[in-house]
Amino acid sequence: MTGNRYLRAASPEEIKRQLRTFARMEKTHSGFVSFLRETAKPRKGSRILELGCGCGMMADRLRREFSAAAEGWDANPGYIAYAAGAYPRTACAAADLMSAPERAEFDLILFRETLMEFSSPAAVLKRNLGRLKRGGWFAALEPDYGATVIYPEVPGWRDFVDRYARFCSAAGNEDFFAGRRLPEAFLAAGLRNIAVRPLVETHSFLDRPALKEFLGAEIMSIKADAPLLTGRVFSAAGLAAVLKGLAAVARAPGAYVQTSMVAVCGQR
Ligand SMILES: C[S@@+](CC[C@H](N)C(=O)[O-])C[C@H]1O[C@@H](n2cnc3c(N)ncnc32)[C@H](O)[C@@H]1O
Repeated sequence: MTGNRYLRAASPEEIKRQLRTFARMEKTHSGFVSFLRETAKPRKGSRILELGCGCGMMADRLRREFSAAAEGWDANPGYIAYAAGAYPRTACAAADLMSAPERAEFDLILFRETLMEFSSPAAVLKRNLGRLKRGGWFAALEPDYGATVIYPEVPGWRDFVDRYARFCSAAGNEDFFAGRRLPEAFLAAGLRNIAVRPLVETHSFLDRPALKEFLGAEIMSIKADAPLLTGRVFSAAGLAAVLKGLAAVARAPGAYVQTSMVAVCGQR
């Protein structure tokens, strides 16, 4: 049901990569916090749980934003060791989110880029429903790579995303289009008062360092996967053209990258 690429302890490099990726999405995260403030309305002392919390950044941010009692669970002991050291006031623990719920104890349970790891997000929501108090909320923030805009156009980029997405889902890894599929998963899990908010963030020529950082990180992560990709997804020459195109975007006048994530919440 979930890809196994996370289930061995994360290396220091993987931890750094998770922190960097998270830090690039500041505007999206402030938008997510506002969305929660308007919909789930966490109060002082509310019990919040992030499932698949990774290094714990979002769980700890929600603890601070809402003066809440926050916890984070993740299957990966490497991420949890980092979270426990970095955020001692957020209780982070190594746990499988598909384990049986014991009590209905949380006011808000969230997923950030975690439902995308599962072939059936609705089944994950259903499995965890019993951890929510009656009237409690699920919230999710997941990307939609199919809605990414890159200008100037990178030759081969769209074809690359489509093929890479098919490759990942066939391998049991993440769903690139998870964001747009969240509302149907929330409906299928029987939640009510469902609210949806797209959160779009731009990295543009007006903010050149952010654009360079974004594209640089994109290029690095594609390069890291390259041996896996070239045989089955793209020719080496095609991949090289995509990487060259991305690097050129960072230098082009008027260059512009828009990322797109979807936030959804729904009540038990
Ligand atoms: C893409 S990462 C997102 C991490 C974090 N939420 C963030 O936004 O940075 C997905 C996370 O889901 C965790 N995960 C995958 N399957 C899991 C499971 N069955 N139980 C708990 N955590 C799981 C992984 O270990 C990983 O940390």
